[in-house]
Amino acid sequence: MEEKKYARTLVTTALPYANGPVHIGHLAGVYVPADIYVRYLRLKGEDVIMIGGSDEHGVPITIKAQKEGVTPQDIVDRYHKLIKDSMEGLGISFDIYGRTTSETHRKTASEFFKTLYDKGEFIEKTSKQFYDEEADQWLADRYITGTCPHCGNEGAYGDQCEACGTSLNATDLINPRSAITGNVPVLKETKHWYMPLDKWEPRLRKWILEEHKEWKTNVYGQCKSWLDAGLQPRAVTRDLDWGIPVPIEGAEGKVLYVWFDAPIGYISNTIDLLPETWEKYWKAEDTRIIHFIGKDNIVFHCLIFPAMLMAEGSYQLPDNVPANEFLNLEDGKISTSRNWAVWLHEYLEDFPGKQDVLRYVLTANAPETKDNNFTWKDFQDRNNNELVAILGNFVNRAIVLTNKYFDGVIPEARELTDYDRATIEEFKGVKDELGKALDTFHFRAALAEAMKLARIGNKYLADTEPWKLAKTDMARVETIMNIALQITANLAIAFEPFLPFSAEKLRKMINLDNADWNKLGSIDILKAGSRVEKPVLLFEKIDDETINNRMERLERIKQENILKNFTPKAVAETVSFDDFQKLDIRVGKVVACEKVKKADKLLKLTINDGMKGRTIVSGIAKYYQPEELVGKEVCFIANFAPRTLKGIESQGMILSAEDADGRLVVIGPHGEVRPGVQVG
Ligand code: 2FM
Ligand code: ZN
Repeated sequence: MEEKKYARTLVTTALPYANGPVHIGHLAGVYVPADIYVRYLRLKGEDVIMIGGSDEHGVPITIKAQKEGVTPQDIVDRYHKLIKDSMEGLGISFDIYGRTTSETHRKTASEFFKTLYDKGEFIEKTSKQFYDEEADQWLADRYITGTCPHCGNEGAYGDQCEACGTSLNATDLINPRSAITGNVPVLKETKHWYMPLDKWEPRLRKWILEEHKEWKTNVYGQCKSWLDAGLQPRAVTRDLDWGIPVPIEGAEGKVLYVWFDAPIGYISNTIDLLPETWEKYWKAEDTRIIHFIGKDNIVFHCLIFPAMLMAEGSYQLPDNVPANEFLNLEDGKISTSRNWAVWLHEYLEDFPGKQDVLRYVLTANAPETKDNNFTWKDFQDRNNNELVAILGNFVNRAIVLTNKYFDGVIPEARELTDYDRATIEEFKGVKDELGKALDTFHFRAALAEAMKLARIGNKYLADTEPWKLAKTDMARVETIMNIALQITANLAIAFEPFLPFSAEKLRKMINLDNADWNKLGSIDILKAGSRVEKPVLLFEKIDDETINNRMERLERIKQENILKNFTPKAVAETVSFDDFQKLDIRVGKVVACEKVKKADKLLKLTINDGMKGRTIVSGIAKYYQPEELVGKEVCFIANFAPRTLKGIESQGMILSAEDADGRLVVIGPHGEVRPGVQVG
């Protein structure tokens, strides 16, 4: 890939909804990687700005306000401040953290809509939507509940059934009800404005699929499947009273769809940051725009927002959209409603001074190519075995020994041995590798490279043992300590993007005024004769009690959720014994199990059924590693009509049930039962 020349970089980070605090999933997916990237460019002396802010419109905010009996503005004021302060607490270095209820934003988003409207870029369509006559209000999908046509859940929402995960249209619901009054809503005609995405499809297709093959495979793949499925016109207005009023006649009572105004928030926040020069960050050809987002935002940032920009005509399109997958917590999906999260503001209160530990763990575990998992045990291990034992230990030794032998004055490097030269060569290579990884958004690999530098330092001191030589060969000790301190200075630069708080402490310890990326890899960053300060511990061990407390807290939440969130489904229609007997349920033993190629969800199980054996394909790959199932006894429906899935004939169905985290658990007998025995 030939490197493109650019003069400046505009980095945007997804605007979090201001209806709740941010958690580790948001951080690992978006804000920590974006911050690392921006800090890296700043260290290189590049022109870069980082734009963030709160997304303050949308239906969930109005629902929350209604539940609490306050106004939507109260809700967004509360969470905007909480989010802004906590991000700052973690050192996320936004150049601006704005909000979409600002006057600049209202004006910018209205003008954007108006421009597209005047250019004839929208289509107007009338459709039927639910209306609550008593409340005299249109009902957004989330305001309608009813029975899911797929699974029978009686509390499904108009846009999705949370029990079976199916996306729905409000009109699909059986027995729809208004969430405001509980009344049966009526269907009424309403007019809306649509972005004809189909019109932009050929351009989007060429721009992404041909011109941006370098995008991350998860992003490219998701765009491709949307494009291959064909894009449809999308409504960009809503019947709602919370949002930016649609700025045209005949649209009274309507607002811009939150996903129309939110990405324009990046533009308005840039205007607030740089009222005079903002345009060059959005419109100049030598600008590079990068959107950091989570995978649920890919379609909006790669297809819809670019289509809006194409229609407007004067903006640059993003250069890259390095979206991440999701982070789980202790193997469970992070969930705000189930309080299954580590909230940033709570972490900052509970672990004062440990911002970098969280930054480190979230980067080391970043969900870059697949969903990843945060566990408190891993948090402790990485802190104790990596930050304390490798990075902290090396820095501490280097500073302590310099104070001990040279009274804090940096000694001169005298004669280098072959081993010294080899060490220097090794750490010089880190700069290139680190830069390459950061340039291509491989933050985990980049962090591992930076850590490699600390490992090199540790090994160097362990191998050269200056504490032993101090009795016999002080000239050699001078050289060793000079090199160790140069490595320390390299660490202060290399870790600045990742661990800015510790890097700053480190810089102070060695009196390095500022970190300059260009000096990375060099062995004369620190001048002989200058001083280091007394050692300050960069990291401290985290004990078992602290971690056990966290785990116990999560366990309590899990138990509360089990009691709180589960309402068994209504019992199905009565069946006769004969009906029951039609189902031939049997016990079988899994003798082999493997993943099905090109199907994330499927496992192929070979079952000893007491007869000639059979193959069953089951959608449980997300919940089990194949080897976990081998040897297990399971119940299956033996007379289920065979089906072919991904070219494999499935001869039955494995029985399973959902646990409190929505994960499937296979069902089996609680004692030795011979394969092939019927269940009844
Ligand atoms: O998914 C979300 O949390 C959205 N609030 C992200 C918006 S990103 C951008 F478009 F503003
Ligand atoms: Zn359902």
